[in-house]
Amino acid sequence: MGTRVLARASHRASVVGRLSVRADIDVETLKREIKKTYAQVSTEPEKDFIFPTGRAWAEDLDYPDELSRVPDTAVESYAGVANPFSLGRLSPGERVLDVGCGAGTDSLVAAQMVAPEGEVMGIDMTTEMLAKARARSPADRRRPPVAPGARPETSPPRATPARDGERRR
Ligand SMILES: C[S@@+](CC[C@H](N)C(=O)[O-])C[C@H]1O[C@@H](n2cnc3c(N)ncnc32)[C@H](O)[C@@H]1O
Repeated sequence: MGTRVLARASHRASVVGRLSVRADIDVETLKREIKKTYAQVSTEPEKDFIFPTGRAWAEDLDYPDELSRVPDTAVESYAGVANPFSLGRLSPGERVLDVGCGAGTDSLVAAQMVAPEGEVMGIDMTTEMLAKARARSPADRRRPPVAPGARPETSPPRATPARDGERRR
């Protein structure tokens, strides 16, 4: 079945326009393409993507000072859409689950805020992103705050680490 597009515009003074779109989507293709794109952000961070990436983008979003201590190996593949810390700082001792941790920028910022007793767990569906999140720069001698569990996106994430490719039910 093809794609159906339904559009309707309203001309009331308070509403500039309204658009309804209904589309039949091949979910498997969508997942595959999303993973492919994020894998590229991980392995070829210098490329131009249709969304902004990297340290300059995180700085534009007004990330807190902790960003300056996140190694380039993680931030170069930062692909966030917003700054979650604009909602408020985390407190020492908090436990955080970072769903869609990517290369680990948000997790590494959060880890500094919740230290020394807190804990941050990151999960992501893109293997290449997880590999990057696990890697530490030589300058970073702390225990890795990110212990990503590769959990397929078809069911809710669990807060227990899984090995790459392992599927849990
Ligand atoms: C917008 S980026 C997140 C950026 C990340 N927080 C950072 O600090 O750079 C989205 C990430 O979420 C992952 N992702 C998207 N949908 C997911 C899902 N359903 N389950 C797990 N990870 C997912 C992608 O692989 C990608 O790495």
